[in-house]
Parts: sequence; structure tokens; C-alpha cells
Amino acid sequence: MREIQVGLGERAYPILIGDGLLSAVGDDLNRRAVAKRYAVVSDNYVAEIMGDLLLDSLQSAGISSELITFPRGEGSKHLGTVADLASSLAQRNFDRKDCLIALGGGVTGDITGFVAATYMRGIPFVQIPTTLLAQVDSSVGGKTGVDIPEGKNLVGAFYQPRCVYIDSAALLTLPRKELLNGLAEVIKYGVIYDPDLFNLLSEKRQQILDLDLSVLEEVIEICCRIKARVVEADEKEDDMRRILNFGHTIGHAIEAASNYSLAHGSAVAIGMVTVSEIAVRKSLFADDDAARLQGLIAAYGLPTTIPTGLDRNRIRKYLKTDKKAVGGRPVFVLPTTIGKVFMTDDVSEELLDQVI
Ligand code: NAD
Ligand code: GLY
Repeated sequence: MREIQVGLGERAYPILIGDGLLSAVGDDLNRRAVAKRYAVVSDNYVAEIMGDLLLDSLQSAGISSELITFPRGEGSKHLGTVADLASSLAQRNFDRKDCLIALGGGVTGDITGFVAATYMRGIPFVQIPTTLLAQVDSSVGGKTGVDIPEGKNLVGAFYQPRCVYIDSAALLTLPRKELLNGLAEVIKYGVIYDPDLFNLLSEKRQQILDLDLSVLEEVIEICCRIKARVVEADEKEDDMRRILNFGHTIGHAIEAASNYSLAHGSAVAIGMVTVSEIAVRKSLFADDDAARLQGLIAAYGLPTTIPTGLDRNRIRKYLKTDKKAVGGRPVFVLPTTIGKVFMTDDVSEELLDQVI
């Protein structure tokens, strides 16, 4: 089993990674004495395919637990689900000594974390991410929250889990489209922080796409280490944590302009290629590196160009209203080499027009 510490002082926590870890969660929670009673929160689909495995693990460790589900998908990530979950907990007399377990993808982790942050002003929670995106990104770092009609993730809290259990075997049932969503984030880590990861993704592409779990665990561990280091340096996203938005400023605008018909990973992939083109035109990033990035993204079957039918004016509009824009000027994370990026709002409208 692989283990990484997220060093946040009294809120420090471990990330454990292993094949088949789900069956060991009960014993490990007992060892850590996190709580006596647990509620497992999961979307209906994940609950069906792996809920019993977790509940059996808890039961055989003598842990009392209940399963609470909600309908799967981003459409459930709203305050109504938070209210329903809080009511379920109150009806079951859950209190501050009890603990929530988020079993599922980023939607489940974000909702459950937000309920944990707010129910009775805060109860412990643990993350068991089951999508690649959640395993390498959303389960680590304590961003929790839900969407409101005015925008995604506009209501939330920074609230760290007590532990993150990553069972690589969960990926075996993951649809290809969801795997690619995660792989776009994995490529992002290579570009923003780690040229060796970038090379590994190139060399071991086939094993990764064939779901070789030992290679995937190596990749997940590297990504979680990077995320842990970034979050330790800047937990509340005042500065350095914003490098994690590489490819996301334009990616979010493309995703929104497509009315979310384009998958998040596809939009981020296009966003990464587009900002690398900005960096090339500003003579900050070498042509060769941009071609390597574009080549790796394409090799994973992710798109590299904005779909021709997508309205460019809508993309421009969403860029201006990006929630991380400063004074209407979007902030871009630009690469200078594979493994290094910096942030700037100094990208002219003409240059943006050229690349989109
Ligand atoms: P998701 O949770 O909706 O999962 C995607 C789909 O995969 C769902 O239908 C789910 O039922 C299914 N699924 C999950 N695990 C499975 C498995 N092992 N086998 C088969 N099917 C499985 O979506 P996601 O892509 O994991 O997460 C996206 C969400 O994460 C967004 O809401 C986004 O805002 C959020 N996010 C949060 C952070 C953060 O730091 N908190 C970071 C990135 C993304
Ligand atoms: N996914 C971006 C962050 O955690 O900051």
C-alpha cells in the first residue's frame, strides 16, 4: 500500500492507495478511531456496484453504519441534496462524534464534504474516491461545495477530510469517458509541476489505457503528492493553488459555451492546448514543447481543438464572467516549459481572438 501525508498541522491526514483497499477500510477506521458510527453517502449507481463491499468491510470490523444515497450526476449537486442529507442524518440522530464517508466521484465527495462542513457546524468525514478525477484531484485538498443556478461550485467551504482511501480497483468499472476526464487532470499535473510524470504518461500510455492497476497507482500517487504539496503551500487558494487551474480558464468557458455537452476532461484538454498556444505566441513556451503537449493529449484520445460549431462569442462572454477573473480580466496559467507555469492576466483580446 502507498501512503502520502497531507501536512496541514492539526488537520493533517493520510492518503492511502492500494488495489482492493475498499475491503480494508473498516479495520483501518477502527485503528484510527475516527468515530464509532458512520453514514456512507453515495450516488445510487456507485452504491449499487460497490456499496456492499464497503458496508461488509465496516460490518466485519464491528462498525455500525448506514447507507444514504442520492441520484447520480452533477444535477444532484445542489443545496436541495444537502438539505435532504442533513435531514437524513438528523432523523438518524447523527451528532458531531459521528462521521460521514463519501463513496463515489467528485460529485459525491463535494456534496458529502459540504454536508460534513456544515451539519452541526462540522462533523468528520473521509473520502473514498471512485473516479480517476476524484482520486487524483477532488478528494484531496478540502474544496467542498455545490452548484447554484448562477454558477458551478458557488456555495462551499474549505473542509479537509480525516483520511482518503483510494482503491485502484474501483477504476475497473469506470466508463472510458470518465477515465479520460481524469486523465486530462493527470496530464495537467505533468505540465504544471512534473516533467517526469509527463514522460511517464507518454511511455506508459498503453498500460494506463488498459487499466494496468500498478501503473495507475504509481500515477495516482505522483498526482496526489503534487496536489498535497500545492495545498500545503496554499490551502485557501490565495496564490500557488491557482496553478491547478491550468487549462481550466478557457476549459470552463468552452464547457459552459457548449451547454455542458462537452465533457469536462475534453474541455480542459482543449483549454491546455489553447493556453499553450498563447504562451508560444508570447514567446514564453517553445513550439516543440507545445507540440509535445498537443501530441500527448491527442494520444490519449482527448480533443485538442475547439469544436468548429461552438460560438466563439459565447466563449468570450464566459471568459469575462469567470469567477476567478479579476476586474473582468481572466487570469491564465501559462506554461514556460513542461513542468513549470506562471499566472498572468496579461493576455490581450486580440491574442485571445487569434487562439480561439
Ligand atoms: P461524478 O461524481 O458524477 O462521477 C461520474 C460518473 O461516474 C457518475 O455517473 C458516477 O455514478 C460514476 N462512477 C463513479 N465511480 C464509478 C466507478 N468506479 N465505476 C463506474 N462508475 C462510476 O463525477 P466526477 O467526474 O468524479 O467529478 C466531477 C465533479 O467533481 C464536479 O462536480 C466538479 O466540480 C468536482 N470537482 C471538485 C474538485 C475539488 O477540488 N473539490 C476538483 C475537481 C472537480
Ligand atoms: N481542483 C482544483 C483545486 O483543488 O484547487
